[in-house]
Amino acid sequence: MSDKVVRYEAQDGVALITLDRPDVLNAMNTQMRTELFEIFTRLRMDESVKVVVVTGGGDRAFSAGADIREFLEPPTPTHFRESRRRLDFRSEMDRCSQPIIAAIRGFALGGGLEFALACDIRVAAEDAQLGLTEINLAIIPGGGGTQRLPRLVGRGKALEMILTGMRVPAAEALRIGLVERVVPVSELMPAAQGLARDIAAKAPIALRYAKEAVVSGLGLPLQDGIRLENDLATLLRTTEDRVEGARAFVEKRKPKWSGR
Ligand code: COA
Repeated sequence: MSDKVVRYEAQDGVALITLDRPDVLNAMNTQMRTELFEIFTRLRMDESVKVVVVTGGGDRAFSAGADIREFLEPPTPTHFRESRRRLDFRSEMDRCSQPIIAAIRGFALGGGLEFALACDIRVAAEDAQLGLTEINLAIIPGGGGTQRLPRLVGRGKALEMILTGMRVPAAEALRIGLVERVVPVSELMPAAQGLARDIAAKAPIALRYAKEAVVSGLGLPLQDGIRLENDLATLLRTTEDRVEGARAFVEKRKPKWSGR
């Protein structure tokens, strides 16, 4: 039996990553962060995977955040520095050219929500509860939460959530732009996988450039972002797939993408 705490499988261009510690609501320990770091680093080079779905195993949680049991012993400085390095799996996600979809059921708290925030699209089940609860443990989010949350929901709502540690239910999360879709619990995985398959069927280079334009552009001044978009859009006008897309339209058939 595998002693891994993250499951990875891939089929027809869609990878599925499952946090697999359901007994502790998929709390993230050092081993889980290390495995996620390795998976996303590898994924960056894997052209066979077009779209990634991440979710939590069991039926109660996406992830209840950092494993609080690891907080009981104060770490040595070097251990602490090493474990901070592993938090970087979320930066690896930004460097993945593939779109990453979070399928969230139950709790997404602390580092669990930060993991979902580092994804590109969030689909939540009706039972989802999302929050950055670190303040209750005398710490603040350290996996990008203070930066990614206000970029999604605005400064006031982000501060309200971070300063109170409140949990936001799915319907409210949809209203404030924290998740993109809410579906019944039983439809969560079909909805996330269906979305992944729809996206995976698009022209591969256009998919990569679309994510690059949005993700890299968000970190740039507007004029530089528009220049980046212009460069990428211009390059896409030189692909074989662009000609195939136009031909398929004129011939009233489905396009066959070559990825060139
Ligand atoms: N780290 C370690 N273990 C965790 C955990 C975490 N972040 N979150 C839950 N667990 C464990 C519990 O200790 C419990 O284990 P046990 O059965 O061995 O006691 C198991 O998961 C089930 O959780 P439990 O607390 O019994 O479920 P609940 O329904 O009563 O409460 C939560 C669910 C999510 C509200 C509660 O577990 C919680 O507040 N967790 C911490 C969330 C958090 O603050 N995360 C941010 C960390 S920085």
